Amino acid sequence: MPRRKISRERERVQNCCDEVIPSNSARNFGKPDSIVEYSFDNNIIQSKSRILEVGSGCLRNSLFLSNQGINSIHTCELRKTVQKFRRKYSRFIDLGNTVFNSWNQINHHYYDILIVTFVLETICEPKDRLKLLKQIKNVLKLQGKVLVAVRSRKDIRLGLVSPKRCGDGFITRGKSFIRPFNINEIKELFQSSGYSNFIFPFGVSDNQRIFRFITSSLV
Ligand SMILES: C[S@@+](CC[C@H](N)C(=O)[O-])C[C@H]1O[C@@H](n2cnc3c(N)ncnc32)[C@H](O)[C@@H]1O
Repeated sequence: MPRRKISRERERVQNCCDEVIPSNSARNFGKPDSIVEYSFDNNIIQSKSRILEVGSGCLRNSLFLSNQGINSIHTCELRKTVQKFRRKYSRFIDLGNTVFNSWNQINHHYYDILIVTFVLETICEPKDRLKLLKQIKNVLKLQGKVLVAVRSRKDIRLGLVSPKRCGDGFITRGKSFIRPFNINEIKELFQSSGYSNFIFPFGVSDNQRIFRFITSSLV
């Protein structure tokens, strides 16, 4: 594509992404995601693991782990979302955990486990998804693992989503963004950031509504 056409396309995506309110994508859930439960039950998350949850939303995953006796969990979340669930965040902090709002505050190559459930598909600009994955890689130990859940097209009811397209996804009526992934797309995104191992504990097929996997950069 000619350079001018590419930059016009980028501008168009940026403009519609300005309408998105990322905190609107976070909803209140009572249960942790099953990739987190599975990882805890199967000793992938251990009591001494250093854990960072990125885009912790209503804290369902981190509070679950904290309630299982894991100490000093860290999360990184946007201020507006923390504000939306402020009671839960203050309880979480009172339990001895930490909430970051900026990557500058986070130690490099420090964490054994990164949790990122239902976050990547809500980020409107493709370059921001790559940036987030790069940041995750920077703070993960070399042998660290990333626990991922991401929605596929099968999980998106287009009846409830306004048909407004933006970049490679949709802006919903609630002003959140959704870009469903297929299995090749999500693997490619992680592979382009240096991840080479993928474990799908619940299996993997084209019909799946949600892809859940554990990835690492170990060869
Ligand atoms: C659909 S919610 C998922 C929340 C939670 N992980 C869960 O499974 O319930 C997406 C979350 O990602 C957060 N988020 C979006 N971009 C982010 C970024 N660059 N850094 C940290 N969090 C981000 C949003 O604020 C929102 O809480």
